[in-house]
Amino acid sequence: MSDALIKVPKGTRDLTGDEVAAFVELENVARAVFLRFGFRELRTPVFEHVELFSRSLGETSDVVEKEMFSFSDRGERDFALRPEGTAGVVRHLVENSLWVKSGLQRLFYMGPMFRAERPQAGRYRQFWQIGSEYFGSGDAAADADTVLIGWQILRGFGVENFVVHVNSLGCGECRPKHRAALLAYLRTRESELTEESRKRMEKNPLRVLDSKVDGPKLTDAPAMKDFLCDPCRAHHGQFLRMITEAGVRFEENPRLVRGLDYYTRTVFEFVSPDLGAQSAVAAGGRYDDLVQMLGGPVTPAVGFALGMDRVVSIRLKTGWTEKSFSPKKAVVVAMDETSRDLCFGIAQALRAGGFSVPPITPGKKLKSQLSSAVDNGAKWAILVGEDEMKSNLLTVKNLETRTQDQVPASRLHDHLVGAPA
Ligand code: HAM
Repeated sequence: MSDALIKVPKGTRDLTGDEVAAFVELENVARAVFLRFGFRELRTPVFEHVELFSRSLGETSDVVEKEMFSFSDRGERDFALRPEGTAGVVRHLVENSLWVKSGLQRLFYMGPMFRAERPQAGRYRQFWQIGSEYFGSGDAAADADTVLIGWQILRGFGVENFVVHVNSLGCGECRPKHRAALLAYLRTRESELTEESRKRMEKNPLRVLDSKVDGPKLTDAPAMKDFLCDPCRAHHGQFLRMITEAGVRFEENPRLVRGLDYYTRTVFEFVSPDLGAQSAVAAGGRYDDLVQMLGGPVTPAVGFALGMDRVVSIRLKTGWTEKSFSPKKAVVVAMDETSRDLCFGIAQALRAGGFSVPPITPGKKLKSQLSSAVDNGAKWAILVGEDEMKSNLLTVKNLETRTQDQVPASRLHDHLVGAPA
């Protein structure tokens, strides 16, 4: 064993300070939006049988091919840390036959996901998602609602600068025709493609369009849009009308294919120009075949997930300040040993009255206590020492106006909230 300092694993980080406070605010905004749309929360394990992911995300997806953190337990069973949330939610639905209880299921989740990606700005090996999955409705209104949920969460959290890219990937009827045309096209360009794309081409030609290197070269590849069957075309048209009506800022992007294999029909990505290379802040789409692939009955489904790390990083750059406690922060300063018990009681009483009050720190210098109170955004400092104990009057400093009053303990709360005497 070496004595080297143990550091946080590559591609992960500790969430601290404003970042973690902003995470909590984003979770609160999201919960409120999901409840307004009639979704219930679900928490699934952070690890699952590895087969769940290889069967649902696609053997040729980057995630399954090279990004899963998989391991065997003592019983030699193969597990993986979840790289995304959808597969676990579908596993839960199928395992518990949820469609028997009600035709419709609307679930949301929040939590860490794990992908062994090459770390870079905005791309982590442990990252957090907020997502939802809506089962049982094939109607375009379900796709539009899903986009609206993402839209409302981002706006509610104060992120404004983004656009939604949308596309349709068709269904089992029309997609094979596009696949054949795309494969024929790729064969004519084969010599220009990377080795990885050439390998993937025969198994999954769409995946080649998703390649960072080859995708941009293939601008004249056959577009799915031109191959959609009538029902898929009608579904897509209805979806576009609904998000237009709802005021969503979107662009049709025929090259949007997504990195996971389970999608059918609608796919979308929320893209922000404030993010650099990792520009997707949220993404999702419809996956009408997945429930059946995992052993359930044919069940239409649509969902999305938002990358919390990316959304929070954008928000922190645009002057985020913590809302929750700021107007009601106070500090209680024990100026000597004898006032410690009284101060302890005053701090408790203030907290019970809704103030945020840090633990008292007897023995620390008054000056340093006041300056750290100012740094923490406290408005009030309550000072208690020998004089205050004798007179039964507390010294209350307003740290913003730098004024000071003598206040009886019984009137302290009223004084701080500005109630008339
Ligand atoms: P995804 O596009 O793989 O979709 O991920 C959704 C979002 O998670 C991305 O847009 C991005 O913001 C964030 N994200 C992904 N990987 C990383 C990473 N390594 N570091 C930081 N953020 C990341 C899904 O996961 C699907 N399950 C979405 C879905 C739900 N589709 C249907 N239902």
